[in-house]
Amino acid sequence: MRLYGFTSIGDPDVYTISHRHLTHSVRKPLSLRIQNAFITKDIHIEMMEKKFKRTTVTSALPYANGPVHIGHLAGVYVPADIYVRYLRLKKEDVIFIGGSDEHGVPITIRARKEGVTPQDIVDRYHSLIKQSFEEFGISFDVYSRTTSKVHHKTASDFFKTLHDKGEFIEKTSMQYYDEEAKTFLADRYITGECPHCHSEGAYGDQCEKCGTSLSPTELINPKSAISGSKPVMRETTHWYLPLDKHEAWLRQWILEDHKEWRPNVYGQCKSWLDMGLQPRAVSRDLDWGIPVPVKDAEGKVLYVWFDAPIGYISNTKELLPDSWEKWWKDPETRLVHFIGKDNIVFHCIVFPAMLKAEGSFILPDNVPANEFLNLEGDKISTSRNWAVWLHEYLADFPGKQDVLRYVLTANAPETKDNDFTWKDFQARNNNELVAVYGNFVNRALQLTKKYFDCVVPPAGELTDYDRETLKEFSDVKLEVEKLLDVFKFRDAQKEAMNLARIGNKYLADTEPWKLAKTDMPRVGTILNISLQLVANLAIAFDPFLPFSSERLRKMLNMDSFDWANLGHTDLLPAGHQLAEPELLFEKIEDNVIEAQVQKLLDTKKANEEANYKANPIRPNIEFDDFMKLDIRVGTVLECQKVPKADKLLQFKIADGLENRTIVSGIAQHYSPEELVGKQVCFIANLAPRKLKGIVSEGMILSAENFDGSLSVVTTMKEVKPGSEVK
Ligand code: 2FM
Ligand code: ZN
Repeated sequence: MRLYGFTSIGDPDVYTISHRHLTHSVRKPLSLRIQNAFITKDIHIEMMEKKFKRTTVTSALPYANGPVHIGHLAGVYVPADIYVRYLRLKKEDVIFIGGSDEHGVPITIRARKEGVTPQDIVDRYHSLIKQSFEEFGISFDVYSRTTSKVHHKTASDFFKTLHDKGEFIEKTSMQYYDEEAKTFLADRYITGECPHCHSEGAYGDQCEKCGTSLSPTELINPKSAISGSKPVMRETTHWYLPLDKHEAWLRQWILEDHKEWRPNVYGQCKSWLDMGLQPRAVSRDLDWGIPVPVKDAEGKVLYVWFDAPIGYISNTKELLPDSWEKWWKDPETRLVHFIGKDNIVFHCIVFPAMLKAEGSFILPDNVPANEFLNLEGDKISTSRNWAVWLHEYLADFPGKQDVLRYVLTANAPETKDNDFTWKDFQARNNNELVAVYGNFVNRALQLTKKYFDCVVPPAGELTDYDRETLKEFSDVKLEVEKLLDVFKFRDAQKEAMNLARIGNKYLADTEPWKLAKTDMPRVGTILNISLQLVANLAIAFDPFLPFSSERLRKMLNMDSFDWANLGHTDLLPAGHQLAEPELLFEKIEDNVIEAQVQKLLDTKKANEEANYKANPIRPNIEFDDFMKLDIRVGTVLECQKVPKADKLLQFKIADGLENRTIVSGIAQHYSPEELVGKQVCFIANLAPRKLKGIVSEGMILSAENFDGSLSVVTTMKEVKPGSEVK
């Protein structure tokens, strides 16, 4: 996943399901549950009314240029896996498609840096990623790769079909060419001086110092990153998918027919559509990728975002060479894409337009995209090593895959960015998995061992309380289903945990250990009920915590699980022999967590030192030099996003004289509303320059944090606009 993305714009009118907060209560009052059931009901019914025969589930293909971390797992793969496991348990027809995305410029850059081939890079990371997914129980039916033969042919044929149908337009433009290396240069392969902040080493698509997005022609003194030579402009022709032609049906299909999509997804699509769609290039001048399969296209490959989603189709073909088409072309198949928010436009707009243009494919029915997961308050970043890598986690916490799966779902960034902290990880393990779920299971099994030698006792006469308890957990099936069907995984998992809370409360209230001397039949009834509850828990948690459910299945000596049995109170017949009980979860001690926190602190320190080294204090200047800078305080009167520039904000600033316009590359760090009315410091005598057609009269000052985040400089007390900063 890329770690930057578009700002998502939720549309509050679209989807008004409120959230359920069940964490600490044993059970909400019934009236509240009924009320909530109504809130989710319409959407649930709407989604279930469409009758599908089978489901094709895809999960974003991660780039094979680095290992996978908790952000990947939380954002895409755990929710997709929960969903697929749930459908399989319901005995529905489903396939789960995954694979590595092995093309694109960053892979070639990494290879060049390491002095190896791009194939070496993708071979290395494809295996590592595949292994991590297997270890975490991500139950793909196929995990292939976009360098496979099948994929090259599928993507190439797909392009050819669209080309022959006249679905592309060809456009010629001028692009930088390296005469020494004899190659056109991708934007990332051109560096130079940033026209905005004048720092060296800005890339052709972005200056990483000031965050401004650039086009290569804006760079001052451009240089090829391959040969170091000065590139020249040359004509090049590319194929474009004219998205503008698809706009009308996309509007209808998304904005009218898919109002049930998550607000973040719907909102982002709406803002793209409202800005107006433009033709998108689907080829690149590059020597790594799938060659463009038409005449006179030497040196050109399919754009990585053209071939990657076709990878879902190729991988299905690899899995089911003879029957793949029904999973992609039959209108009775439901297609669901699990992705992170930075992939929304590609899966909701570009890929559907490609599929529609081809003509024989179905379109996605839903695209449950997650927001991002941060780590201890900072953005996860591969380059800054700010991540919990899955292979490292497993080395430090062997056998604890389910703990991470649980925490990532409990904290899933379903509606907003969320934060992973080690303290929360420990608390959820100790206070929920161990103290609630594990504790209940262990008590029920140990008591059965002690009093009935691991044989399920018969249930005698039931009390009202017994009946109430049984009723409570027979309701859980419907509750969990209702949530899983609308991709609310964290709430669904909370419901499952509530089942364990019911169990704990039941044992605490009935105290069978006190009755052992006087009323063994009653002890038998209580334990029978408790064991049915344990078996239900094993099924309910199976999609979420597959490793623990499997262990529990063995302890309960059950053959298999079936979702249809959830809520049943006769899963374990009297006389059924159980296996020896073991602990499902174990407490995680403070020192273990402290070691993880220390590891991150060390990373932070190393990053700060590296940053300081990369940005040493500049040589001394004379006072007169400083006096040349005219820094003033202004009040932000208006602030808005600059269309088609995801990093720029346009300001109207009261500067004490006339108001002035300033364009600043801070859109990824502030929303316009946060800044209106605030005082900012700006350089008032910087020569005006044009950014995206707007004349910017000055520069707003921000402090750049070591993690790259920006904080706008302001004054401690309010001052008159135009006041000088000295
Ligand atoms: O953002 C990413 O990591 C892309 N490699 C996702 C591709 S998804 C699909 F289209 F293959
Ligand atoms: Zn810059």
